[in-house]
Amino acid sequence: MQYDYSKNKDEHPEPIKADLKGLIPEWLQGTLIRNGPGLFSLGETRYNHWFDGMALLHSFTIKKGIYFIVIQAFMYAYHICRDAITLPTGDWFFYLDCILFAILCFALPPIDSNLSVLVYLKSLITCGSDGSPPLKSAEVVCTVPCRSLLTPSYYHSFGMTDNYFVFIEQPLKLDVLKMATAYLRGVSWASCMKFHPEDSTLIHLIDRKTKKEVGIKFYTGAMAVYHQVNAFEDDGHVVFDGICYDDNSLYEMFYLDKLKEQMGADTVYCKPKCKRFVLPLSDMGETGEDLVKLKYTTASAVKEKEGKVLCQGEVLCDGVELPRINYNFNGKKYRYSYMCCVDISPVATKIVKFDVETKQKIEWTGGDCFASEPVFIPRPDAVDEDDGVVLTCIINAKPVQGGFLLVLDGKSFKEVARACIDVDFHMDMHGYFIPGSS
Ligand SMILES: [Fe+2]
Repeated sequence: MQYDYSKNKDEHPEPIKADLKGLIPEWLQGTLIRNGPGLFSLGETRYNHWFDGMALLHSFTIKKGIYFIVIQAFMYAYHICRDAITLPTGDWFFYLDCILFAILCFALPPIDSNLSVLVYLKSLITCGSDGSPPLKSAEVVCTVPCRSLLTPSYYHSFGMTDNYFVFIEQPLKLDVLKMATAYLRGVSWASCMKFHPEDSTLIHLIDRKTKKEVGIKFYTGAMAVYHQVNAFEDDGHVVFDGICYDDNSLYEMFYLDKLKEQMGADTVYCKPKCKRFVLPLSDMGETGEDLVKLKYTTASAVKEKEGKVLCQGEVLCDGVELPRINYNFNGKKYRYSYMCCVDISPVATKIVKFDVETKQKIEWTGGDCFASEPVFIPRPDAVDEDDGVVLTCIINAKPVQGGFLLVLDGKSFKEVARACIDVDFHMDMHGYFIPGSS
């Protein structure tokens, strides 16, 4: 199976009705917005790395009674994260910008039942479309000093419980001087990042009430983490799950020239592991003692000295990425995550429902196709955590066949419906579902 990563994709600003097979639940109404790189050259300018490609946004709208899908695409002449302040104006366009910015910047949308959405997203949306800086009303929740000002840690997502933030300072570092000159030198951001296997990974635990770090320094071995799955508190501990890599080879694989080579079983690939870490909220105990008292995990946190604890994660499963959960359980003890299977290569051909308690997996695969991050949408008034549907965008590897939006049952992980669209989808990264009838 091949996918041309470097091909510029077309816009389809007009709605396209989908050919629906199966039955979408009546309660499922809203818009799934998904985002990923879709433009890799503009005039003479070409990007070398897939992650540097300019954003292409597509949306799938599901309306009651009339099931149809809309694809809308907006391209940006600059990198969205870098230029958030100079976004185009106009209410609708601006709104989409905000959503896109949030999806891009916050892979794990930190939503809980009390906070509406992350403060940055709230601030972006509530600011005017009169050209005023969209980050003007952003609130600094807390500040965590980094180990080195010239080589700060790369950061992609964070964990959040009712009382704590979990912030990982990993030894995947940005070289600030290289980044400042990257544009002039015509190199990608990826080339300005370096993994330092000799360094440790610091795990910052921040008290949301005091807005300060707790008094214990937690650390573990070198790892690279892009996506955290969830975090929760349990009997004097903070538990967090994340997708962890032993190195930074993932980034290296996504140079466009490397992506032209077929990925397969012989691909040298550092497979990610879904790991659980446990942070004890007290370091009372003997030196050398494992302070983790939870029975259901093998994760450890050994007291090295007063205020310093060495953590070792438990591998829950491996070969998975782009995790999503029922966000009604974000920050709370949870059981299920929905992820892409990246067992052989970082490009997923399967998705999986994973039970973190039993370690059981249920997989979905469609044969010759690429699967995107599975987004779980709970059924209104659902009691069970997995009562809902999972939406994922599927690219058909056979060029004559278009892609489709796949709807799976959240419990059985069986196909409920698929909405086929005769369009050449681009491979996206993250999605966000906005409930509603519009
Ligand atoms: Fe991400």
